[in-house]
Amino acid sequence: MHPVLRRCITTMASKILPCDTRAIHFPALDAAPQVSDPTTLRNLQTAAQALRSGSLVAFPTETVYGLGGSAVPSSDAIPKIYKAKGRPSDNPLIVHIAATSQLPSLIDPEYSDHLPQCYSALMERFWPGPLTILFPTIPSKLVSERATCGLTTVGIRMPAHPVARALLAFADVPVAAPSANKSGRPSPTQASHVDQDLRMEADLAYILDGGSCNVGLESTVVSALPGKGAADGGEKEILRVLRLGGISPEDIQTCLDEANLSQSVTLEYDSKATAVDKDFRPSTPGMKYKHYSPNAKVILLQPCSSSDSPDIVTFLKDLRGKKVGLLYIEPSALHQSVASAVISLQSRSLGPDHETQAQRLFQGLRSLDAENVDVILVECVEEEGLGRTVMERLRKAAGGSDSIAVRC
Ligand code: TXA
Ligand code: MG
Repeated sequence: MHPVLRRCITTMASKILPCDTRAIHFPALDAAPQVSDPTTLRNLQTAAQALRSGSLVAFPTETVYGLGGSAVPSSDAIPKIYKAKGRPSDNPLIVHIAATSQLPSLIDPEYSDHLPQCYSALMERFWPGPLTILFPTIPSKLVSERATCGLTTVGIRMPAHPVARALLAFADVPVAAPSANKSGRPSPTQASHVDQDLRMEADLAYILDGGSCNVGLESTVVSALPGKGAADGGEKEILRVLRLGGISPEDIQTCLDEANLSQSVTLEYDSKATAVDKDFRPSTPGMKYKHYSPNAKVILLQPCSSSDSPDIVTFLKDLRGKKVGLLYIEPSALHQSVASAVISLQSRSLGPDHETQAQRLFQGLRSLDAENVDVILVECVEEEGLGRTVMERLRKAAGGSDSIAVRC
């Protein structure tokens, strides 16, 4: 092998630093991490130092891998994140913290005693975990204004993944981190996905490898701050889900009920909201952009028994000559019919339940892309619980097209 090529490969490979999640322990919620494996400890500390010095580090969270950079007001890491991802500059970043003790330093003190009453219940129930909450902030004083894109709110989340929590604790700075994919691509749920998208980015110092993400979909973004679209001056608080994610609206409602807040807080969400809905005005800037798209065309299929719908074999005739991939649920009404009609079908199971379907979705899209299929057929999942988020991501992956009903 040519020495320059070997050096390049070594440099690329050396970006991935393995971490053993089982070796990381937190004696209490806000306590410092204890790491029993020396390699994991060294890798976490190396990555934390890189974050502190303004470099980028990709790291696993329970949702998806994030591309992190320091979010302190003086940070010069944020423009590097936008550049590496090719991200539109008006789409703000979520800021990640290791402990709730970091919160006061990020929140505008004028409002810290007047936060929505439901926030304490949400944090207590869902942090650490896949919930991002919007807080009032002072950009350029408390947090990098490049991370909030000049907004006076900041989305904050305390991730649950041990590698993320330990990295954030060692770095001891708030870390802005979008999903670690090229903008528009399916989010990464494995270190290798980050490597595929971002390995050539010189500003990315390290990728911490903590295995597969177990939620598999991004965090749910919520806000109960008064503002455009929220109830003005009313008695009731409006808690809006700005982006569906790893915590379902049903789980949020249960949390409100259990905290005796169901009378005073109304939960609002729109599970059909997609970036291309003409009438939907995005309340979180990221909603309007192309998202989660594999290279192949995505077509959503809804199996049905109606004689008004085309049967699957007729539908597949239009795909003759194309290389076809299929993501199916278990048990599948579709899998057998498609497999018997399409030669050399590439198929992947999304599994039997919403949690598994969420976990496998992005990996499924990426792995079928790797097979160079022209079309990815996806069997629709039921729209309840996490299934709402799965379908919202799928509609975006399909460019906003609705599902096609087929008989099988
Ligand atoms: O699970 C996750 O949330 C992952 C991991 C890495 O934490 N991060 C993630 O970030 O999905 P990103 O950048 O891909 O999506 C952040 C979403 C965008 O839709 C953005 O517009 C919205 O959150 N957002 C962030 N800050 C906001 C703010 N201040 N106001 C409204 N929306 C905001
Ligand atoms: Mg993203």
